[in-house]
Amino acid sequence: MIANRAAAGLRVLKDGIRCISTSGVKRSDNLFVHRDTPEDNPDIPFEFTPENKKRVEAILSIYPEGHKRGAMIPLLDLAQRQYGWLPISAMHKVAEILDLPNMRVYEVATFYTMFMRKPTGTYHIQVCTTTPCWLRGSDEVLNTCKKQLGIGVGETTKDRKFTISEVECLGACVNAPMMAINDDYYEDLTAKDTENIIQQLKDGKVPKPGPYNGRFTSEPKGNPTSLTEEPKGPGFGIQPGL
Ligand code: FES
Repeated sequence: MIANRAAAGLRVLKDGIRCISTSGVKRSDNLFVHRDTPEDNPDIPFEFTPENKKRVEAILSIYPEGHKRGAMIPLLDLAQRQYGWLPISAMHKVAEILDLPNMRVYEVATFYTMFMRKPTGTYHIQVCTTTPCWLRGSDEVLNTCKKQLGIGVGETTKDRKFTISEVECLGACVNAPMMAINDDYYEDLTAKDTENIIQQLKDGKVPKPGPYNGRFTSEPKGNPTSLTEEPKGPGFGIQPGL
């Protein structure tokens, strides 16, 4: 694997050094453009449920007049939670609620990878493969997911239960390697843990979220290595003149 990464690095050098003002090629399993399909086109109606309409009102009430567009991400998130993913009709509904051109909503929905632009399984497995997780074995975690579900990254199982995504840092590096399944984080994983977690989901059980190596959260695995003395108390370190 290290040899592969080194070879990729050499290729970049060989192809020329990228200018600082240009972006790298973006590779993602997410859809950044819209193409009308039978399951995602503007003719399919989208409406918030009565309960979610109340939530929409509550969300909008947080934002002052003239700044309602700040509610866009919460409203898109609500639409995605209701529908399971974010079809174009839902984006149009959010644009209508916020009284904005559709384009303003497309810009946000296609920028943030949290918005799923194509049908997604009940369990959305997001495996972080950024450097800290990679160094700690995210390849094994991802390969276990792929092997156990028989699908690749960006794909959904035929029963529409599982979708696998490969994502950038999810902010839990100190518990690397990790994956997120819907709203829960599963951390300090081995291939075996990953296998057990997926098996539990297949069996209709709810696996325990959090670290899988015996830690409670992100404390040191052994004894504390810092902040080991008694706190000094108020006023410590202040200059005498003050
Ligand atoms: S690198 Fe994986 S959570 Fe940060």
